[in-house]
Parts: sequence; C-alpha cells; structure tokens
Amino acid sequence: MGKRHLLIAVAVVMGIVLSLQGNALAETLPERGTYLMRSIVACGTCHTLKDAKGDLPGMDLAGGFRIKGPVFNLVLRNITPDKETGIGAWTDKQIIRAIQEGIRANGKIIGPPMPIEFYRSMSDRDVKAIVAYLRQVKPIRNEEEDSVWKIPLPQSYGPPVGSVPEVPRMRGVSRHLKPHQHTLCKRLNKVYVL
Ligand code: HEC
Repeated sequence: MGKRHLLIAVAVVMGIVLSLQGNALAETLPERGTYLMRSIVACGTCHTLKDAKGDLPGMDLAGGFRIKGPVFNLVLRNITPDKETGIGAWTDKQIIRAIQEGIRANGKIIGPPMPIEFYRSMSDRDVKAIVAYLRQVKPIRNEEEDSVWKIPLPQSYGPPVGSVPEVPRMRGVSRHLKPHQHTLCKRLNKVYVL
C-alpha cells in the first residue's frame, strides 16, 4: 500500500472509531439503564414475582417473592417508584447506597443474596442510569414486610464506594457490532484508542 493510501485508510479507521465513541456517549441515561437492567444487572431476576411461565404480568419490580429456610424468611421488596410501598420516596443517593453498599434508606443492612459485591464496581454513570430507569417504571402498590434473619448479617459490605470511573467505552459499544467487527474493534482499541 502506498503512503497516500495508508493515510486514507487510517483516516477512515479513525472516522469509524470516533463515530462509535460518539454513539456510545449519545446513549441517554434511561437507555443505558434499560440495557443494564435487561442484561447483567437484572434486578428483576429477584425483585419481580414469577410463576412457571415467567414474570407475572403487572408485577414488574414490585417484589413479592418469598423463600423460607431454617435461618431466614426472605421477602423480596417492592422497588418500583410507589411512594408508600416502593422506593419512590427515597433520594437518588439512598437508592445508590442500597445498590452499592447494601444499606437501606432507614439505615438497616440488606441481607444476601443481593449481589452487592458485584454492584460495588459499577461506574457512577451506570449506577445513575439504573436509578434513572427505576424512576420511570410504573409505580405498583404492593406492601411487603421485612425479611427475618436468625443469623447475624454482615456489618457492612465494605467501606463507602465513593466514585467509580467509567469503563473504556469501546468495550461498552462492542455489543452493537457484528462478530467480524469485534476483531476489528479489538485491534482498533489496541492500536488507536488505548
Ligand atoms: C439475587 C437477588 C437480588 C438481585 C439480583 C437484586 N436484589 Fe435487591 N434485594 C434482594 C433481597 C433478598 C433483598 C432483601 C434482603 C433482606 O431483606 O435482608 C433486597 C433488598 C433490596 C432493597 C431494599 C428494599 C427495602 O425496601 O428496604 C433495594 C432498594 C434493592 N434490593 C434494590 C435492588 C436493585 C436496584 C437491584 C438491581 C440493581 C437489586 N436490588 C438486585 C435480592 C436481590
């Protein structure tokens, strides 16, 4: 390839990189929240009541699931924006603290198996995206009592999380790519972005 062709190729590649990054940053908080909630973060796995056919209609994130064991009577709570029975009256900070530090608005610790250790590493923007998502789901009135634990719960899940920086965006955007573009993306990442 001649020098001129090489320069054109580099310019085209840089154009692709910039447009991919542009797309990633153009994603709004509720869009990012929807993506996270429907994939890895998946609060509904536990907080949405299910039957053999799957999620119960009209109960999205409204809790209601119960598990009884020898040392616990676990109750899944309503995390819809209903002000009285859900988390509608909680501030953003209180919701973020519950997700990343396992501390409720009333100061009490959240017991297992909520994957708080995993949520602690979510970036500031991602956890805000989840709050944005939770704020716009339908409020559902469903009162659930507290779980009962006959064993001591952890005192905490670690020190306050503080600030978690954003992950490199190229990885975040690769889900929009077709398989053959993944390799290209990885190579671009290595050569031009990092
Ligand atoms: C693997 C199951 C699981 C997943 C996934 C999960 N939770 Fe939980 N969550 C629980 C359990 C169990 C409790 C109650 C534990 C207890 O009562 O000790 C709880 C409690 C809470 C509470 C406290 C509610 C209250 O009224 O005190 C909030 C808020 C909460 N979860 C939000 C979330 C959010 C937001 C997500 C997703 C980012 C999430 N949870 C994902 C299991 C889960």
